[in-house]
Amino acid sequence: MSYLEITQDEPAEATDGVWLTCIECGETFAPFEGIRYTCDDCDGLLEVRYADLPTFEDFGDEASAFHGGVWRYSAALPFDTGVTLPEGNTPLHEVPRLEAEVGVERLRVKHEGMNPTGSFKDRGMTVGVRVAQEVGVDRLACASTGNTSAALSAYGSRAGLEVLVLLPEGKVAAGKIAQASLHGAHILEVDGNFDRCLDIVQNLADRGEAYLLNSLNPFRLEGQKTIGLEIMEQFRDEEGHFPDRIVLPVGNAGNTAALYKCFRELEASGAIDAEDVPKLTGVQAEGSAPMVEAIEKGWDHVERWADVETIATAIRIGNPVNAPKALPGIRETDGTAVAVSDDEITDAQRTLAEEGVGVEPASATSIAGLRKLREEGEIGADESVVCLTTGHLLKDPDAAVAAGTEPEPVPDDTDKVLEHLRS
Ligand code: F0G
Repeated sequence: MSYLEITQDEPAEATDGVWLTCIECGETFAPFEGIRYTCDDCDGLLEVRYADLPTFEDFGDEASAFHGGVWRYSAALPFDTGVTLPEGNTPLHEVPRLEAEVGVERLRVKHEGMNPTGSFKDRGMTVGVRVAQEVGVDRLACASTGNTSAALSAYGSRAGLEVLVLLPEGKVAAGKIAQASLHGAHILEVDGNFDRCLDIVQNLADRGEAYLLNSLNPFRLEGQKTIGLEIMEQFRDEEGHFPDRIVLPVGNAGNTAALYKCFRELEASGAIDAEDVPKLTGVQAEGSAPMVEAIEKGWDHVERWADVETIATAIRIGNPVNAPKALPGIRETDGTAVAVSDDEITDAQRTLAEEGVGVEPASATSIAGLRKLREEGEIGADESVVCLTTGHLLKDPDAAVAAGTEPEPVPDDTDKVLEHLRS
């Protein structure tokens, strides 16, 4: 059985038509009995599987659905609702000047920074923390470049559970630490990068010290799948067809994996045809681009980069753990991956800001990547494209101030202010 086939006969372990399947060996597991993040037999990544896959008609409308947003798509999720703030239902911005500059048929920007804690991670946490309640744990944990920790801290607190976060010391943007801190997480700053934080928190989870809510946890990706569902519905309703391509930042490659799962499920249910699946196009920063390397070299795995560096600290990641799910996603949808420089990221962040859309550096990689691939002719002028922006401008105030205009001191006097303006 191939990972690409999303449908399979319901195994005896299933609970209410939901189970876990190993993407490497096909072994199946009960969804909420016992705690596992990878396959017991071969350590492969796990994927949530369903006996029934919904079409668009199975989703509630915004007004009637319980809490709207992510949970409007409960027919595609393991529960009817979860620990919600609520999340999802984010804008799909028009960016006419950028669209004209880049020169594509249509460009829309899906701003995930408009979620409750300011990033797409909320979509994963509303489901993940619900599962934590189901399996019965009292301490939640994650390693994070910042946004996952902010989301887990908020959703864990909301659920009344203890939260432990491991952050790479000195490499997490101020807004994100502020969030984890105020929501009352136990914050450990590790003298190592994100990948080392993840190694350690995985070891703690394996020893039963905490329930792991990084994107290695397959339930997180179920919530993030709803980004794809929203994009497909919003674009179809407003543009009359589905987008040709989705361009997104890549760190641990969870979102890439989640979007690919979304499209495989929609295709299997008959909601879309094979040719409707958007080309998944991943963007990384040049200083941390192991996925781009794997795509360019045709590898079926990524080689871990020990040293990574970029202004886009959210995606300062050298060992994308979801690569076994995400590499096929990029290849099978006829997408690609590209690396962009820190200067290109900052330029893209400014350009989006000129359209009124404020994002953090990692988010701007999608725009920088689109620009580069368009210049190289890899993306055609006839394409309709959605760029995903994953986190809000206020997440990283220092990067925003460095990229923006300088405040100028003036005296407390109208004439002197006018003088200053005219000088
Ligand atoms: N953009 C932002 C703003 C992020 O915070 C992340 C990941 C990504 C993109 C990459 O997404 O991992 O699904 O490929 N941030 C994680 C964190 C690693 O800890 O907050 P991915």
